[in-house]
Amino acid sequence: MAEPRQRILPTVADTEALGRELAADLRAGDLVVLDGPLGAGKTALTRGIAAGLGVQGRVSSPTFIIARQHRAGQREDGPSVPLVHVDAYRLGGDLDELDALDLDTDLHQAVVVVEWGRGVVEHLAERHLRVLLSREPDSDVRTAIWEWVG
Ligand SMILES: Nc1ncnc2c1ncn2[C@@H]1O[C@H](COP(=O)(O)OP(=O)(O)O)[C@@H](O)[C@H]1O
Ligand SMILES: [Mg+2]
Repeated sequence: MAEPRQRILPTVADTEALGRELAADLRAGDLVVLDGPLGAGKTALTRGIAAGLGVQGRVSSPTFIIARQHRAGQREDGPSVPLVHVDAYRLGGDLDELDALDLDTDLHQAVVVVEWGRGVVEHLAERHLRVLLSREPDSDVRTAIWEWVG
């Protein structure tokens, strides 16, 4: 297993660029678990992942609907896969509830990105990409630490 990687992200564009980079390694069935406080950039990173995957639709916070599905679109480096963007904050740690969402998208055929997913959704896949985002008070600078776990 590779060492955790770390990057300083001075602007939101840097966070989105990291998302596009991470997307290059993501395939159908992959799970991405995003951790970090409100405003740390989880949704911004997801926007970059969506751009890299080439999926359809605008990424926004799924807070009030729990999960948002983005259909496959165009991807430069191969066939696009759908993206399922979940906010686990509202799942309240209930492990069964993600299955109960009754999504149209088969999770094994999609990349699944889960905000607030740490400790809640890891069991859904054999391994997952864990990204921890942190922020300094009164600053745009974010830090990302990421690694494949499992
Ligand atoms: N370096 C940065 N990376 C990500 N977001 C940043 C950065 N600097 C400023 N921001 C701003 O911080 C906010 C991050 O929000 P969001 O991605 O929704 O966070 P989260 O989903 O973790 O709550 C956005 O308003 C974004 O424009
Ligand atoms: Mg968010």
